[in-house]
Amino acid sequence: MAAGRPRLTVLILAAGQGTRLKSKTIKLVHTVAGQPMVTWVARAARALKPDRIVAVVGFQADAVRAALDGLVDSFVLQTDQRGTGHAVLTAKREVGTQPGTLLIVNGDLPNLRPDTLKALLSVHKRTKAALSLVTTVLPDATGYGRIVRDETGRVARIVEHKDAGRAERALREINCGIYAADPAALFPLLAKLKPDNAQGEYYLTDAVHGTIAKKAMVAALLHDDAPEVLGVNTRAELAQAGATLYGRKAAELQDQGVTILDPSRTWIDPRARVGQDTVVYPDVIIEGTSVVGTDCVIHSGTRLTDVVTGHGVIIKDHCVLRDSKLGDGAEVGPFAHFRPGAVLEDAARVGNFVELKKTRLGRGSKASHLSYLGDADIGPGCNIGAGTITCNYDGTAKHKTTLGPGVFIGSDTQLVAPVQVGEGAYVGAGTTVTENVPPGALAISRVRQLNLEGWVARRKAKS
Ligand code: UD1
Ligand code: CA
Repeated sequence: MAAGRPRLTVLILAAGQGTRLKSKTIKLVHTVAGQPMVTWVARAARALKPDRIVAVVGFQADAVRAALDGLVDSFVLQTDQRGTGHAVLTAKREVGTQPGTLLIVNGDLPNLRPDTLKALLSVHKRTKAALSLVTTVLPDATGYGRIVRDETGRVARIVEHKDAGRAERALREINCGIYAADPAALFPLLAKLKPDNAQGEYYLTDAVHGTIAKKAMVAALLHDDAPEVLGVNTRAELAQAGATLYGRKAAELQDQGVTILDPSRTWIDPRARVGQDTVVYPDVIIEGTSVVGTDCVIHSGTRLTDVVTGHGVIIKDHCVLRDSKLGDGAEVGPFAHFRPGAVLEDAARVGNFVELKKTRLGRGSKASHLSYLGDADIGPGCNIGAGTITCNYDGTAKHKTTLGPGVFIGSDTQLVAPVQVGEGAYVGAGTTVTENVPPGALAISRVRQLNLEGWVARRKAKS
């Protein structure tokens, strides 16, 4: 904790099931832009560099803990989910009641930006409120807690949809589930909550009324970008939240000089990086923490997962690459498949229907057609002919194939590993290589061809 600065603790409410998704799985671990929904809230919180981030977990706690592992500092277990107020109260020991600021955020806000949290904190500080919250205005506020303001325009209380009367249901300003509070003022109020409402729950939102009853101040930050601060409750909202994150990422990359032909049909993980003057065609998926260099072209139908590329790389249509590295000027595809551990050094090329696994293809080497290269270390300047297969698995263990620099492998070769081919050696087409090939040698293992002159005519004459 920085000396002199009041303590900032973030509390993520992540114990509730979320029934409107109609899923066996807790809402908060459903995927938004490739990551569990709740992790985006944690990332937004981390951007504030708070002193601590605590998450309240309960329903399917193990799944939520696993999702948030490494993103939050500690967890509190809310065994029975008796409402948002009860959830915060459960965390009292963990959070503490020393002076400072407690930022409470619902876990179902994947689109929430750090700037909005910062804005709330600054309103909270400026107004010296005991409790501050984010609101937004919706054309249809069905399902949300409504903000009731008094005749002077100040927030008076929050009424949950299920408890609201006709007039209150007509209100369009809603509570977003993002609060800043003074823990010393909040916890005594929460201890007095009563579940006398339509859902029989302890509502965190009742603390608003409680704060005002104590003549303390409640401040509201009216946020105009509603989609950013709306909780995801339905599958339709789940899809929309993903589209928002991907759209934001595409716009950010466009600002940085990346060409994205159709952002509505491009899915780039917000954590991935793409370099300047790279062109991304429609129907490309870039997942995980992939890093694409500058001046690359990625064609349609390609999926990159945790792939790192150099500059000037071309990936043609319909390639699937995972946990792989591509050097400057490398070319891949169309229709290539890289499994974990594929490495293309600079200017190496892989063509159609080629699969690589734990294989390094040296500088300028080529495997242009129909090959499986697994557990292989291939030197620079090699040519791997069409239909080459590394027989790396003997049914029990995997074995390595090693090719020196400048090796030429003829088409339809099988390399039965473990095996080594020395520098500059040639392997004749159709060879099954079972023994090491010395540098500069030609290896060939074929049955000598027999031509039976006039054989066709003789057969016809017989029948
Ligand atoms: C809550 C607010 C409502 C607001 C809405 C915004 C209350 C009483 N109401 O309603 O005013 O408009 O969010 O989306 O707070 N949770 C727990 N433990 C529980 C219950 C919930 O950790 O016992 C967590 C959930 O996992 C979720 C968050 O709290 O992340 C909000 O819960 P949810 O049930 O979605 O609240 P709403 O009824 O939507
Ligand atoms: Ca909700």
